[in-house]
Amino acid sequence: MSRPPLFQRATVTRIVKESSDARTFVLAPHDGPFSYRAGQFCTFRVDVDGTELFRSYSMSSAPETDGELMTTVKRVPGGKVSNWLHDNVAEGDAVELTRPAGTFCLRPTSAPLLGFSGGSGITPILSLAKSALATTDRHVRLLCADRDHASVMFDAVLNELTERYPDRFSFVRHLDDRGGFLDAAAVRHFVGAEGEADSYLCGPEPFMALVESALPGPGRIFSERFGAVAPTVPSADAPDSEVEGTVSIVLGRKKVSVPRKANETLLESARRAGLTPPFSCESGNCATCIATVTEGSATMRVNDALSDDEVAEGYVLTCQAVPDTGSIKVRYE
Ligand SMILES: Cc1cc2nc3c(=O)[nH]c(=O)nc-3n(C[C@H](O)[C@H](O)[C@H](O)COP(=O)(O)OP(=O)(O)OC[C@H]3O[C@@H](n4cnc5c(N)ncnc54)[C@H](O)[C@@H]3O)c2cc1C
Ligand code: FES
Repeated sequence: MSRPPLFQRATVTRIVKESSDARTFVLAPHDGPFSYRAGQFCTFRVDVDGTELFRSYSMSSAPETDGELMTTVKRVPGGKVSNWLHDNVAEGDAVELTRPAGTFCLRPTSAPLLGFSGGSGITPILSLAKSALATTDRHVRLLCADRDHASVMFDAVLNELTERYPDRFSFVRHLDDRGGFLDAAAVRHFVGAEGEADSYLCGPEPFMALVESALPGPGRIFSERFGAVAPTVPSADAPDSEVEGTVSIVLGRKKVSVPRKANETLLESARRAGLTPPFSCESGNCATCIATVTEGSATMRVNDALSDDEVAEGYVLTCQAVPDTGSIKVRYE
């Protein structure tokens, strides 16, 4: 089972100002172009004041329409990495990032596509829209919610798409400073008679919850969550008593084993064993915590980052993977 190193270096060839607080970083990976699917993301590894931090950023480019790989980062007030990237990375600098991952992707269908974006959630939605328009005959409509006019991103690109695909593409904007937050009636009005469409949602948690509950159905809903750091494990399932078997973990040059505990994820076992493996979202979204199961098996509670092929090859998200039975061996890259 061989796979390129998890983190690769890429040069930031251009930085594009998208709005008052969002920048696109155009990237040239040193080991050649990344292959990716519209809607996927890369996880950046940065050193902020001596602390290694990991954050995921979706591609705003689409492989079928853009010759360059682009990620778009919006400043989060008080946020460590988004502000660090804005303030410290200049054109010509190198950054470290994973190859693309994620399952927020198009499925083969002719169903209309509705995209719902809140703030920086437009990033993967734009990628999906470009890809769907370029590779299918699907009709695509976007509802883009932003705080105010200064926060709006990708206006020029969206207008170009409207001109290029007048019969298949349109978008509407919702600005909070004009009409308050988006509400359920506005979502249903936007959906209209296209309840059977595939709906792609990405934005702040309250925005996602509102749209998910307002969608009339019966179409499929695809959600990408940027911020979920909340534990996905109900407290009743918290790690508890020791059970038969051991968890053996290899991380770099360190090799440790601990007795298994019921309901404990592999990431939790690694930390209990004194290791500090990489992680970011702890919600099954970003793949920063990826490792290979070399012996035994584990089941992931949530997997919104690995493809079926990767799972079949033995990769797991250690923040979500709980050993099935007996002993298990795991190797971080
Ligand atoms: C799959 C995926 C794709 C993503 N794609 C994008 C994208 O395309 N573009 C984009 O801009 N973002 C994207 N994100 C979000 C991104 O990964 C980061 O979460 C985001 O940039 C914030 O990171 P940060 O380090 O700046 O903020 P953090 O330092 O993580 O802080 C986040 C917020 O928490 C608050 N906070 C931090 N610590 C504390 C504390 N101790 N007490 C109280 N509050 C605290 C901060 O003030 C801030 O408001 C994506 C996330 C995922 C999971
Ligand atoms: S830390 Fe993000 S998927 Fe595990």
